[in-house]
Amino acid sequence: MLLSLEGVSKSYDGVRMVLKGVDLELSRGEIFLVLGPSGTGKTTLLMIASGLEEPDSGRVTLLGHELTKMDPDERAAVRLKHVSFIFEGFVLLEDLNVLENVLLPLRLKGSVDEDRALKLLERLEIRDKAHRPIGGLSMGERQRVAIARALVDPRDLLLADDPTSNLDDRRVKLVSDLLREIVDGGTGLLVVSQDPRLRAHLRPDRTAILEGGRLVEAQ
Ligand SMILES: Nc1ncnc2c1ncn2[C@@H]1O[C@H](COP(=O)(O)OP(=O)(O)OP(=O)(O)O)[C@@H](O)[C@H]1O
Ligand SMILES: [Mg+2]
Repeated sequence: MLLSLEGVSKSYDGVRMVLKGVDLELSRGEIFLVLGPSGTGKTTLLMIASGLEEPDSGRVTLLGHELTKMDPDERAAVRLKHVSFIFEGFVLLEDLNVLENVLLPLRLKGSVDEDRALKLLERLEIRDKAHRPIGGLSMGERQRVAIARALVDPRDLLLADDPTSNLDDRRVKLVSDLLREIVDGGTGLLVVSQDPRLRAHLRPDRTAILEGGRLVEAQ
């Protein structure tokens, strides 16, 4: 098992529970899509799955590492090695250009592969902006840069937070095809989204709806 969440609960104010005993399992080569309206806890679920946040109760295990027994530094070490993340707010570095942003995960490892980065930008139809600053990009362009950065050196687990929220249908298809290729290479993908188009384009192995703090498997 790549990732498992068992009985994960979380509340922020101590009153209203955002997650109420969520169970989830993900293997390598699998796509798990979680759909749900705004404010239902999708980002919270991903933050907990990555170890960026701690649940109030329950257990999170990533490749045999029980994140819920580790301190934040230990979790960060596991995350760096095993997790790629497409953030909801992109978290691009404004002082760097598009290509430099995409190369960041490789630079951290000391193995820059510009060809791979440029090929991804090409696939995502943003190759012509490789040397532009982030500042002048549209939201959909920023989103595609964030996707390229997460895929330039895919780790064991890919967490994607609403990765198509700013994209037109054709780009949703582009991104979905790319994500499927990465998963076929052995990565497991947990994607949370408000975008029902992903069901048709991504053809996930499993789809669940996050409702009232629980995951309800969709047919
Ligand atoms: N750090 C926080 N402090 C207090 N409340 C929070 C915090 N993070 C999330 N919440 C609350 O938890 C609930 C779930 O938030 P979350 O961001 O997980 O929703 P979401 O499903 O990702 O929404 P969206 O689709 O709009 O991104 C919301 O009501 C939100 O206000
Ligand atoms: Mg969110």
